[in-house]
Amino acid sequence: MTYDAPVTYDALVTDEVVVDTDGPAATQAVAAALVGFIVPGDVVLLGGDLGAGKTAFTQGLARAAGVDEVVTSPTFTLLRPYRTAIGPDLLHADVYRLEHLREVVDLALPEQLEDGAFAVIEWGERAAPALAPDVLSVTIDFGSRDDDRRLHIRPEGPSWEVRWPDLRQALRSAGAGAR
Ligand SMILES: Nc1ncnc2c1ncn2[C@@H]1O[C@H](COP(=O)(O)OP(=O)(O)OP(=O)(O)O)[C@@H](O)[C@H]1O
Ligand SMILES: [Mg+2]
Repeated sequence: MTYDAPVTYDALVTDEVVVDTDGPAATQAVAAALVGFIVPGDVVLLGGDLGAGKTAFTQGLARAAGVDEVVTSPTFTLLRPYRTAIGPDLLHADVYRLEHLREVVDLALPEQLEDGAFAVIEWGERAAPALAPDVLSVTIDFGSRDDDRRLHIRPEGPSWEVRWPDLRQALRSAGAGAR
């Protein structure tokens, strides 16, 4: 796959971190760097095609947050809660199916966020129009080799923008290929 030339890219998007990873462990290390920044009510949207690594990313975040179960794809449960060691529960959703999207964003999600959980939503770009405009967006693209991925991480909304200078630093430190 070819990527945009950096010069074009930088001109279009200024406020994001791009990290290249060479396997699931590297992607999970980037996810783990988020943990220290999570507060109740947070929403992390994961985008990227089938098999890009959205669940793998969630697993890395969950493990770093002290979840002792293995996070699996929540295809048959809309919104799966996990107890963490950082305070707020992790809610994991997959809104690949559109009826799931409606149920998650119309019913289950807002209440549980208000109750103090934080959410990680696979195929989150689909949910974005229905959510409050304050999310961390993570998009995972395939790279040229089988295990290569490129993560684009971007704050969208005020609460994430406040955290962004420190978070950006942490993400850059976590990703060896970050720029
Ligand atoms: N750099 C990488 N980062 C993340 N996953 C990787 C990487 N390289 C290889 N993989 C593998 O890619 C697969 C990603 O699968 P995963 O279930 O996480 O994708 P997904 O985006 O959640 O897919 P789906 O849309 O079906 O939910 C895993 O088998 C993982 O081990
Ligand atoms: Mg998945």
